[in-house]
Amino acid sequence: MLKWARLFKKKSGDVERDVISPNSRNVCKFILKNGEIFYKILRDDKVIVDMSRLGFLICGEEPFLRNFRMIRSVTRKHEETIELPWGEDRYINNNYKESIFYLTENVEPYRIFTLRFRVFDNAVAFRYEIQPQPKFQQISIADELTEFNVNLNSTAWKIPAFQPDRYEYNYEKTSVFDIKHSVHTPLTIKTPNGYYMSIHEAALYNYGSMTIKLNNEKRLQSDITPLSDGTKAHIGLPFETPWRLIMISDSAIGLTTNRTMYALNDPPRGDFSWVKTLKFIGIWWAMYVGEWTWAPGERHGATTTHAKEYIDAAVRLGISGVLFEGWNDGWEGDWLENGINNSFTKSTPDFDLPEVARYAKAKNIEIVGHHETVGFVDNYEKQLEDAYNFYAVNNVHYIKTGYAGSQILINGRREYHHSQIGVNHYQKTVELAAKKHICLDIHEPIKGTGIERTWPNLLSREGARGQEYEGGAISPSHACFLPYTRLLSGGMDYTNGIFDITNSIKHISTTVTRQAAYFITIYSGMAMAADRPHIYEERFPDIFKFIQDVPTNFEKTIPLAGEIGEYYVVARQARNQNEWYVAGVTDENARRVHIALSFLDSGAYKAEIYTDSDDAHYRDNPFGHNISEKHISKNESFDIYMAAGGGFAIKLVKL
Ligand code: NOJ
Ligand code: CA
Repeated sequence: MLKWARLFKKKSGDVERDVISPNSRNVCKFILKNGEIFYKILRDDKVIVDMSRLGFLICGEEPFLRNFRMIRSVTRKHEETIELPWGEDRYINNNYKESIFYLTENVEPYRIFTLRFRVFDNAVAFRYEIQPQPKFQQISIADELTEFNVNLNSTAWKIPAFQPDRYEYNYEKTSVFDIKHSVHTPLTIKTPNGYYMSIHEAALYNYGSMTIKLNNEKRLQSDITPLSDGTKAHIGLPFETPWRLIMISDSAIGLTTNRTMYALNDPPRGDFSWVKTLKFIGIWWAMYVGEWTWAPGERHGATTTHAKEYIDAAVRLGISGVLFEGWNDGWEGDWLENGINNSFTKSTPDFDLPEVARYAKAKNIEIVGHHETVGFVDNYEKQLEDAYNFYAVNNVHYIKTGYAGSQILINGRREYHHSQIGVNHYQKTVELAAKKHICLDIHEPIKGTGIERTWPNLLSREGARGQEYEGGAISPSHACFLPYTRLLSGGMDYTNGIFDITNSIKHISTTVTRQAAYFITIYSGMAMAADRPHIYEERFPDIFKFIQDVPTNFEKTIPLAGEIGEYYVVARQARNQNEWYVAGVTDENARRVHIALSFLDSGAYKAEIYTDSDDAHYRDNPFGHNISEKHISKNESFDIYMAAGGGFAIKLVKL
């Protein structure tokens, strides 16, 4: 038994402590009652998360749940402004009150642990910190029992967890009571008293990712993604769990700029001044519309000739990068089935990477490399060092990776992408890439938990249903859910800018203007203009101008209007420039939104306005658009029209 644990053994008693946000609106109550641990959250004195249990089940040990007493607690205040190297906001606040509660069991084996709560004006976060202790150096977590006891009549916007397509599902609006199966986070909720919350996690390392279920007591509870052995994680002590994060807002739109997740992550680990956000085109959509193939053959996409043509097109279009998919051995036949032997260093005979790289360098174009693992992580990991070196020596500073398939194959076993072992694999790629000065855009990723603050070379992820599902499986409301749900976990490579909307293979639920708007409404540190270059050059050079101009790094983001799944309007200032971009998207309903320009500096701005025409419609007339210019100032406001399934985009430049 530890000395200090014995010292306090005889003391007993319930404890209730308030941790209060800097502006006093949020109160998190830490409650120790009959030796069990709970918390509760109030906003403006109204309960938004009721008595919620904390604790673990541990394999082969007594549960970590009961017979606890508090040894001591420490409270402090923290105020900090963090500068991020890239993203939606340059500066974010890290202002909170923190209370740390040191706990011990008052019966054998007298285990100890710490609970750390941080209460922000727009969030509550807490994590478990388990110290090494005599009987307790390595543990296997059988379950984490963290509850989020929100009112069952709250509304929730959910996607299902543990399904074959990972995070790539349409959002569904239900009551919390109707959450019958585990769902992914961020889980966005509206309480009956009108507050918005999103349950998520921050700094997910070496642990299963948290999904949420309704437990037998009808309370929301963490459901950690299991390993194939049925446990949730094997950990050595000391160990800190990811932060359990509850973002809080008075409005739906207010949630969309909650940056607490980043504040909860560590500062960059090393010098990342070499990281640059990127816009790119690529040998990609031509495969989706059946013109080219990933596999070698007559219609092979990634040939040296096509690569050079795309590089030339990028130069003409003013886009800095080009992606090449299907350049390597392994795509023959059914690539989803056969990927177990994919090579990440051997090109197909018609693709000469060193030659393409020389050509790209001469034209000042960045190559975006591609690694499709098809989830065969064992095969990828054995080539990892060589694969990253191969790109590094060829001057490739960006890689898009992919993990298609319902599970990953790692250590000879099928595991969830989102299990502890999956989390650790993705982390390995991020850290190796950082070492080689390579930035990543991970498809079929582990969800974002803000680790790009620590690893800024992780420029983007997919991790939601993207435009590859267009042609039937996406409705216009989808992109109106994302800002309030998936995008709370960071940027997304949605593969924007598809202008060939009525293509007979992939008819897309959009207007052409809306495709430009996506570059603002869906942030990505690596933003793909996904259509084929000739579509931009020959058919829509006018709207393409917006894509050419739009930055990938912003100073400030101001959400202007919106409702979950209905519409979203946002303004972003370009990093270091007096230039603003405003854009919006709407669901199946046309609507007019009122925009006030009070966020501008004083003085005149030139506005380039891209809107749907009055007769535009995502199904019947997707190409109807107007482009106009006018001078405008901060005192002005105006109405802007979005057609059904449409959107708008405005560029504002200080004169
Ligand atoms: C799925 C990715 O999301 C997509 O972008 C990619 O083209 C395919 N996998 C093939 O790697
Ligand atoms: Ca995908």
